[in-house]
Amino acid sequence: MSILMPVVMKKRIAVIPGDGIGPEVIREAVKVMDAAGAPVECISLDWGADRYLRDGVAVPPDGFRTLSENYDAILVGAFGDPRVPDNRHAANILLGMRFQMDLYANVRPARLLDRRLCPLRDATENDVNVVGVRENTEGLYANMGGNFKKGTADEVATQEDVNTRKGVERVIRYAYEYARARGIKRVCMGDKANVLTYGHGLWQRVFAEVRQEYPDIESRHLYADVLAMEMVLRPASFGVIVTCNMFGDILTDLAAALEGGLGMVPSGNIHPGRVSMFEPVHGSAPPLAGKNVANPVGAIRTAAMMLEHLGLADAARRIDDAVLASVRERQCTADVGGKLGTREVGDWIAARAKS
Ligand code: NAD
Ligand code: IPM
Ligand code: MN
Repeated sequence: MSILMPVVMKKRIAVIPGDGIGPEVIREAVKVMDAAGAPVECISLDWGADRYLRDGVAVPPDGFRTLSENYDAILVGAFGDPRVPDNRHAANILLGMRFQMDLYANVRPARLLDRRLCPLRDATENDVNVVGVRENTEGLYANMGGNFKKGTADEVATQEDVNTRKGVERVIRYAYEYARARGIKRVCMGDKANVLTYGHGLWQRVFAEVRQEYPDIESRHLYADVLAMEMVLRPASFGVIVTCNMFGDILTDLAAALEGGLGMVPSGNIHPGRVSMFEPVHGSAPPLAGKNVANPVGAIRTAAMMLEHLGLADAARRIDDAVLASVRERQCTADVGGKLGTREVGDWIAARAKS
């Protein structure tokens, strides 16, 4: 008689550490996933500035197809290197993944883990728990536009803001579905339809339609300028915020500030049912690179977010609980009031996630 052992199929993760502090924080994220017993196999890819400067390749031929076909998810560090002043490789890789793999919802949850980290006077942990859902495949990022008489005194520069019904509708619906699935009671849509009457007029019309389908959720609209102010004055009034690519970029950095800074925040670039990409919200922070000072928490929470997305909720919860403990017990880096280095924070969280 043979004893049948359950076979755990490991999820295949393409890990792209990238530039600057990317490799340092991703190393800790992978360490913590291991410690938490997550059934994943991590395969490292060397896309980034070094390779781009060496052989001119930002994305290898067929790179995006390979990612879509051979992996279950992608874990990314950050891109950006002072040796590539126009940041071309970063745009090719990062925006390339978002656009070409059609990862239309950029989900950025910002939750205050300890009140001491919030720059707002008297804020408590319950006051900051807001999820930014940023349109991720069009808007001002569509790279449409041009220069006329470039370099002369009569120079003209245009940058088109591309908004499609399909793109707007799917991201607004994603925001509602995300809220409903997690019991979040409020969705706020932000735009500047009072000025951008065509592009954001479309957002208004689509929002007015889609919100009807979600009577269980409180829907609100704010112009993006007031939305930014309200996030500071009354952050607790928000649940999910859905907005266009550019406003989403800016407002989610504001949300990051409310929870302790860019080093803390995870994100997912998601197309439901397809291979999705996960990355901390912060960049490559060149001045911090190689010094063991970067906060790895954003990257570690990103790993947890990815595991949850892959249906590995147990490991994700262990990691999130361990991160919370590390912040509350001040086992953290200097940007969030601790004295530890990047590696030491990763070690602490890994040890806690194991127990
Ligand atoms: P940045 O996020 O790298 O840094 C902004 C500020 O936050 C700096 O003060 C930095 O020290 C701090 N910070 C960021 N991450 C931190 C961490 N983990 N721990 C502690 N402090 C942290 O943004 P930037 O300075 O505007 O950009 C630097 C480079 O990164 C640029 O090339 C930019 O284009 C690129 N970038 C890449 C991404 C990405 O790959 N997703 C995102 C943003 C910026
Ligand atoms: C982000 C970054 C990117 C963006 C840059 C690096 C292209 O700021 O992920 O928020 O603008 O989307
Ligand atoms: Mn940004």
